[in-house]
Amino acid sequence: MKKIAPSILSGNLLNLAAEIKLIEEAAPDLIHIDIMDGIFVPNITAGWNIVEAIKSRTDIPLDVHLMIDRPERYIKQFVKSGADVLTVHYEGAIHLHRTVETIRELDASPGVAINPATPVDFLSEILNYVDLVLIMSVNPGFSGQDFIYSSLFKIEKMRKIIMQRELETFLEVDGGIKVVNIADVANSGADIFVSGSGIFNTDDYKKTIDEMRERI
Ligand code: DX5
Ligand code: ZN
Repeated sequence: MKKIAPSILSGNLLNLAAEIKLIEEAAPDLIHIDIMDGIFVPNITAGWNIVEAIKSRTDIPLDVHLMIDRPERYIKQFVKSGADVLTVHYEGAIHLHRTVETIRELDASPGVAINPATPVDFLSEILNYVDLVLIMSVNPGFSGQDFIYSSLFKIEKMRKIIMQRELETFLEVDGGIKVVNIADVANSGADIFVSGSGIFNTDDYKKTIDEMRERI
C-alpha cells in the first residue's frame, strides 16, 4: 500500500494546530516531522517537544526524521514523545546497528535514511534490522528544493534489493515530491512519499493529496 506523509513543519508554524486539523481532513497515512540540529544539516527546526505537542493533537502515526548528528543521544526522548517511526541517518550514526536496535527495544519502528551522495549498497548490513529505508531526493536541510532526478535510479536499485532479499521493508522517498513528479517516484518503486512544499504551498491540502494518490 502506498502511503503519503505530509511534512508538517512545512506548514504555517504560527498555527500548527489548525494545520494538523486541515491535513487530517485529507487522511494522510503518516505525519512526517523533520528534526534538524544545525550540525548534521545547516538548519535548525525543533526538538522532541514538537513531537509531543503534535502527538497530543492527532492519532495519525508520526514519522520522525532525525537529521541530527549522533542521534543515539536522543532516541529515548523522541520515542517517549510519541514517534511511531523513528528514522536516523546512516551518515550521522556511528553505531548504527545499536541505535536501530535501541529504537526497536523502545517499541518504535526503526528507519535508516541516506543522503543523495550515499550509495544504497552501504545499507546492505543494516537492511535486515530496519522497517524502513528513506532515500533523500534533496540534500537535507530545507523544504522547497528541486527533486534530484538521479534519485530515481537509487530507488529502483533499493527496490530490487528489497525484493531479492524478500523483505517487507518500506521504501520512503523525501524531498521535492509534488503532484507533477510523484508518478515517477512511484514507478521507481517507492511506497512512502514525503511532501512538504508540494502540499503546504497549495491552497487545498485535501485536493492535492487526493491528486497525489490518483497519480500513484
Ligand atoms: C528536507 C526534509 C524534508 C522536507 C520536504 O531536509 O527532510 O522532509 O521538509 O520538503 P519538500 O517536499 O518541500 O522538499
Ligand atoms: Zn524529512
